[in-house]
Amino acid sequence: MKLLVINGPNLNMLGIREPEIYGKDTYEDLIKLVSDAADKMNVHVDFFQSNHEGALVDRIQQAYGVYQGIVINPAAYTHTSVALLDAVKTVGIPTVEVHISDVRQREDFRQVSYIREACAGTVMGKGFAGYVEAMEILRQIVDGK
Ligand code: DQA
Repeated sequence: MKLLVINGPNLNMLGIREPEIYGKDTYEDLIKLVSDAADKMNVHVDFFQSNHEGALVDRIQQAYGVYQGIVINPAAYTHTSVALLDAVKTVGIPTVEVHISDVRQREDFRQVSYIREACAGTVMGKGFAGYVEAMEILRQIVDGK
């Protein structure tokens, strides 16, 4: 099984960015944690991070025919981007939305997720472990096919 893990804007600054919300671990720590979990699950995982909406759309399109699942933390684009929603719908790849923080407990503008209706699941408020849970959800979906 090949999975693509996509992270949106400002997640490259994990560890520096608002550590009281996102923790002190870095983006590199996140990659290591997810890579180790993927190894144990016998899953091949690739990573992509961008601060640019169009680059995220391009990467989702390029995933077509290559990956069986996508784990995506669209970050701020969760709450603004119809383009990311359309990209996930376009490729039809099972996708799970992840948020490190529990966005339900945060500002009103974070209560909208455009991408959610195209996603097979959402994991939020579980820190970096949420990405591993998302991979497990995708494994069940792919194995169930
Ligand atoms: C986030 C939550 C978003 O509201 C925020 O814009 C982010 C990160 C999270 O992982 O908790 O950048 O997606």
